[in-house]
Parts: sequence; structure tokens; C-alpha cells
Amino acid sequence: MRLLVTGGAGFIGSNYVRRRLAEHPGDSVRVLDKLTYAGRTENLEGLPPDRLEFTQGDIADRDASRAAVSDCDAVVNFAAESHVDRSIDSPGEFITTDVFGTFVLLEASRDAGIRHLQVSTDEVYGDFEQGTATETSPLEPSSPYSASKAGGDLLVSAFARTYGADALIIRASNNYGPRQHPEKLIPLCVLNALAGDPLPVYGDGMQVRNWLYVEDCCAAIDLVLEHGEPASVYNVGGPDELPNIEVVKRILELTGRDESLISYTRDRPGHDRRYSLSAAKLNELGWRAEVDFAEGIERTIAWYRENEDWWGPIRSGEYAAYYERHYGQSISSAGSSGASSDSRTSGPLTRPGPAAGDSG
Ligand code: NAD
Ligand code: TYD
Repeated sequence: MRLLVTGGAGFIGSNYVRRRLAEHPGDSVRVLDKLTYAGRTENLEGLPPDRLEFTQGDIADRDASRAAVSDCDAVVNFAAESHVDRSIDSPGEFITTDVFGTFVLLEASRDAGIRHLQVSTDEVYGDFEQGTATETSPLEPSSPYSASKAGGDLLVSAFARTYGADALIIRASNNYGPRQHPEKLIPLCVLNALAGDPLPVYGDGMQVRNWLYVEDCCAAIDLVLEHGEPASVYNVGGPDELPNIEVVKRILELTGRDESLISYTRDRPGHDRRYSLSAAKLNELGWRAEVDFAEGIERTIAWYRENEDWWGPIRSGEYAAYYERHYGQSISSAGSSGASSDSRTSGPLTRPGPAAGDSG
């Protein structure tokens, strides 16, 4: 198979490309990626050049999408703006990529007559304070990010029904693992803990997320690509539902830090309290999560410990400005940390909170 993977230079996309090339020695992959702040060609380093073609381009660009699908047998669409907090600050790009870009790519894959697998999220179901979302639960997105993803999903379903396009959707819960951009909770807290910096916890920290190790998610995507029914939705729920504060405390424990590093900050506007996703339909196809949170978080921390070459440049670039803009004041005003920066791993990231002793 020759596969088009859009957004393949990002976190889940690059893990998926790695898996696909390793597990299917006869396959080749073309990656189309705009290389936003979240996309990095480093994520694809070490893969066989004769089986991997990389093109920088935008799924919302009709010519780029049409050229990318040509000669391919299927497309897996990971390309998206993916961070809820950024969607609150700047929703426009989310509409452009996650809604319009999905539409442009869908037209291209429909016209080429190839399968389009849309990678979506449990966040489209919105808050699930009780119970568990199934594939038929109503879409009630809360953030501009999840609303944009829901818009993309509705287009996929409409293309399948109206045009008979071979289009289908997976909705995954919160992924974590190697190569995740440190704007997301787990890598952010791992890197801050390693550096001895405060770990920002929004609100009361009791929001629940359903954690899925990225390799398990990629296995699910492969299974649905090969065996999923056209016009269907498959939920990929992780094995562990945990409140954020427990995740943060576990990271502190595994990095040998104490809880004085926890810094409760202003809550995220519209923050969903809980996601919960049933994977029963996918289990029937034969999928089971193999890595639970206890193991996955250890693997993840080990990867970040061993790969400072990967995250060092990120922490000194655009991310540092984002971090200062997003956390600077709220962490200072929360002032709950008595942390001091640790010179062993301190990177160029401006330390957001007050220095030890001046937190008042
Ligand atoms: P990511 O932000 O790490 O990667 C997104 C990639 O898409 C980047 O490489 C970026 O450069 C690329 N991209 C952005 N806009 C593009 C455009 N217009 N054209 C081409 N490429 C573009 O995101 P991720 O965490 O790897 O998520 C991948 C997909 O999985 C997204 O669709 C996301 O909504 C979905 N998802 C993520 C999670 C999660 O926990 N990370 C959970 C469920 C679903
Ligand atoms: P995140 O990793 O941004 O994923 P999502 O918003 O898609 O679930 O956040 C996971 C949870 O962690 C979410 O409830 C928000 C919370 N969170 C914090 O408490 N502090 C942070 O600094 C971040 C980035 C997230």
C-alpha cells in the first residue's frame, strides 16, 4: 500500500508513520505536512528514505491536497491545529485547517476514489460528567478546537452518505508518549518537573481525562484503516481515567520531585470536567490497549529524559513566548510554588513563576 499521512510530522502522525513502515515492510508513505509550530521533520528522522516521501504543504490548499493523494491507496488525516488553549486564544486557524482543510482533503480523496480515515477526538462529545460516550452519543463540543474537529467529522459523514465516499472516523482519547509537543499536559509537566519548575494545574485539578498510550492509538488506527466499515465511527478509549492532579503527582513522584512544585492556576474557560470513551466497538474488531498508564508514563518520562536534543530546541523557540504569554501571570499570581530552577536541566525557557523565596 502507498499511504498518504497528512500531519505526519506531528506527535501522533509521526508515531503512526514509524509504526506503519515497521509493521508493513512492503508499504511506502507520503507525508504532507504544513510544518506549523507543532510539526517537525526531526520526528521522521531515521526512517528509510526509499519508503518515505515528505512534502511540505497545506491540506487546505486544493492543489497540494490533489497532488498529495495522487498514486496513493488511502489517506489518514492527522493534520490539524490540536491544542485547546491555543484555540481559545486564536480560533481562526482551527476553522481553516480542521474544518476547511478537512473538506478540501475529503474532496481530493473522494475524487481519487481512495479511503479517507479521519483522526478525530473524544472531545467532540463534550463533557461526560457521568456515563461513557459511545459512537452514537451526540456531538456537544465545548471549545473552538473540539467544535472544529466536530465540523470536520460531520463533513466526513456527509461525504460518505451523499457521495458514497469511502470515508470513516476514529475518535481517540488523550494520547501521550514520545514526541508530544510540550504544550500538552503530560510533556509540559515532565519537562517542568525535570527542570524543577512549577507544574501548572488548571482550576481544582479534578478534571478527568482518559489516557491512551500513543502506540496503542496507532495500532487502533491501523486496524480501522484495514478493517473499518465505510461511513463508520470507532472510538479509541484508553485504559485509565484519571484526574489531572493524579497525573501530575505521579510525574512528580517518578521524577523525584515533591508536591511543592504544584501550582494551581486560573482555570481554562469552558473547561470540560470529564471525558469517558467506550472502546467496545473497536474491541469487537480485535483491539485492546496494551500499555496502561503506570507503564506508559514511565516509558514517556524515560523518553524525555533521554531526548533533550529533541525538546531543547522547542523550549527555546516559539514555545517560550507562548509559555510566557499563557502562564506567566497566572502562575505568578497563584504563587503556590516554592520551586527553584534546577541547573542540571534548565533550558532557555524563561522560568514563569517567582524565584524561590520571592513567592510572597
Ligand atoms: P500535533 O499538533 O502534534 O500535530 C499536528 C500536525 O499537523 C503537525 O505536524 C502540523 O504541522 C500539521 N498541520 C497543521 N495544520 C496543517 C495543515 N493545514 N496542513 C498540513 N499539515 C498541518 O497533533 P497530534 O497531537 O499529533 O494530533 C494529531 C491528530 O489527532 C489531530 O487531528 C488531533 O485532533 C487528533 N487527536 C489528538 C489527540 C491527542 O491527545 N493528541 C487525541 C485525539 C485526537
Ligand atoms: P491537554 O493536554 O491540553 O489536553 P486536552 O485539553 O485536549 O484534554 O490538557 C489535558 C488536561 O490537563 C485538561 O483537563 C487541561 C489540563 N491542563 C492543566 O491543568 N494544565 C496545563 O498546563 C495544561 C496544558 C493542561
